[in-house]
Amino acid sequence: MAKISVIGAGMTGSTAAHWLAEREIADVVLVDIMEGMPQGKALDLLEAMPIIGKDAKISGTNDYADTKDSDIIVITAGLPRKPGMTREDLLVKNANIVGSVAEETIKYSPNATYIVLTNPLDTMTYMTMKKTGLPANKVLGQAGVLDSARMSAFIAMETGVSVQNINCYVLGGHGDSMVPLTRHSNIAGVPLEKYIEADKLEAILTRTRKGGGEIVGLLKTGSAFYAPSMAVVQMAEAILSDRKLILPCAVYLDGEYGQKGIFFGVPVMLGKDGVEKIIEYELNDDEMTALQASANAVTKSVEELKGLVEL
Ligand code: LAC
Repeated sequence: MAKISVIGAGMTGSTAAHWLAEREIADVVLVDIMEGMPQGKALDLLEAMPIIGKDAKISGTNDYADTKDSDIIVITAGLPRKPGMTREDLLVKNANIVGSVAEETIKYSPNATYIVLTNPLDTMTYMTMKKTGLPANKVLGQAGVLDSARMSAFIAMETGVSVQNINCYVLGGHGDSMVPLTRHSNIAGVPLEKYIEADKLEAILTRTRKGGGEIVGLLKTGSAFYAPSMAVVQMAEAILSDRKLILPCAVYLDGEYGQKGIFFGVPVMLGKDGVEKIIEYELNDDEMTALQASANAVTKSVEELKGLVEL
């Protein structure tokens, strides 16, 4: 079985381990600096496997050596938001954490594909590529799957149509300026406007952009973890099974969508080589303007990072 190491055994990391093991997608190594915590969660999860008849092996550790030869490294380590914080407020603290995770893990798994979840997402993914020295196709950030799933969930709530018929695409940075693409989204091939009145649709787009903050406001002690970790599972499964699945992910752009040198949420094809292709939608002027505003926010964050750490 493939091997996935999940770094950070907090809510997102341990829930990712849970979904991955339950689906027998890979053996999972759960890593955290807290002594006993990853070991305890991993053992508990392992003991659940006989009940569902799954043979995934799950282990917990404080030692990066145990991540050796991972096919995929998932980085969730870092602080989550508290109410009133933006994702950018996490930059200073999380940069040091993610930087050392990237440096430590790459020593043991030089061929791994990295999936980053720590916020501020696009900047932390950029940092992971720089610190690991991996080529751009091997490093991606999870955000678009989550943001698009939120939009789909809200559309399903509004229309009563099955989520299986709802196709939504949210591109751009994983911040409040993310760009839900209504023109490319649809319900079983029918444009959203045919199902939903304009003001209701606008409210759904706003709720989508602020979707992470909505959960933080409710939880008060941390941020969302079920949907973010489920998004990791979809991405990891697509890579390990060479599925050629097209999903919106944060990837390194080199001119695509008019952007260069940043990680940014765009549709990509995922397969055994990680990011195998970047799909370029035809966008109108309004959509390009919105994406540019989102890219400007990501560029600003990356500039700030460069002032903080050596890359
Ligand atoms: C969210 C955080 C985890 O969007 O970025 O829920």
